[in-house]
Amino acid sequence: MDIRALIKQEVLGQKAYAVDPASCRIKLDANENPLAMPAELRPRFAARLAAVELNRYPEAGSVALAARFARAFGVGADQVMLGNGSDELIQVLCTALARPGAGVMIPTPTFAMYRITALNAGFRVAEVPLDDSFDLDLAAMRAQAGAQPPALTFLAYPNNPTANCFSAERIGSLLREAAGIVVVDEAYFHFAQQTFLPELGRRENLVILRTLSKVGLAAMRIGLLIGPAPLVRELNKVRLPYNLNSLSQAAAGFYLDEEEAFLEQAAKIRRWRGELTTAMETLPGIRVRPTDANFVFFSCDFDADRVYTGLKERGILIKNFNAPGRLKGFMRVTVGTPEENNEFAEALRSILTE
Ligand SMILES: Cc1ncc(COP(=O)(O)O)c(C=O)c1O
Repeated sequence: MDIRALIKQEVLGQKAYAVDPASCRIKLDANENPLAMPAELRPRFAARLAAVELNRYPEAGSVALAARFARAFGVGADQVMLGNGSDELIQVLCTALARPGAGVMIPTPTFAMYRITALNAGFRVAEVPLDDSFDLDLAAMRAQAGAQPPALTFLAYPNNPTANCFSAERIGSLLREAAGIVVVDEAYFHFAQQTFLPELGRRENLVILRTLSKVGLAAMRIGLLIGPAPLVRELNKVRLPYNLNSLSQAAAGFYLDEEEAFLEQAAKIRRWRGELTTAMETLPGIRVRPTDANFVFFSCDFDADRVYTGLKERGILIKNFNAPGRLKGFMRVTVGTPEENNEFAEALRSILTE
């Protein structure tokens, strides 16, 4: 039997999202929080999880949690949806909006899952290269939207992997002009501290995504979508009933109760980001891009593949974006603990001067 003959063209034409299987001593490849949950929180967290009734289905739609997050965001409870990571919410949006012939517009380079998920849902995907400063090329995006108005535009704010927040004015223009939904994905909000939340009341086509993955709960898979109530109502028809398992719901509630401790960790990471950037800037042949996120995007004048492999041999995993064209020499490193960052910077220095 030819299994491939049964599979959608859009799926056949794709590569699966690549997660590097290498297990390294120092893991700086996935934009995670390098700190474990503070020791004083752990017994309370464990007790919360132990109280979960595993024999029962989760609360469908995470209604109580949505209401709590809505209060924190200053929006209505009917404007919030929780997901199994923001990845799932991207999928829910794509599933609901992929009418025949519809398009998705994304700037490139950006987070890989926008393209993968949109293609799987049957969208045409228009990729518009970022300008020379890795900001939105408004003229090119306008031209693309004029030719084929997208049902959905995905903007990561700050962008992954380029680490910068796009110009708020340019995003504002797209929001005003777009006929479709504009998703502002604030996965790295805790490191940029800039948000489009106040625009929600003014823009019917704005959807904001958040996640708890980058502030310390990546394993729990908790994403948040905040948007206009009429849209959220429709998206709820697409969402699987028990999409957020009970342990994740308990973890999200715990996060809200103990948010201060998580925010303190984010503040440390912002400080360490500055130190890491400064250390990297002193290295010969390394060019560091400005960062609003918990990672640093940088290019090197040397063979980036050799640098990447050299780091891996020393037990340090980062993400390699090196490819012919504009990403030649580019790599991304997550901000780790000061010890990890020092070891990374020293390893980089020794590889460059080998
Ligand atoms: C811009 C952006 N959005 C969303 C995600 C996925 O987040 P989650 O873990 O909530 O699925 C990532 C993860 O790297 C990301 O970089």
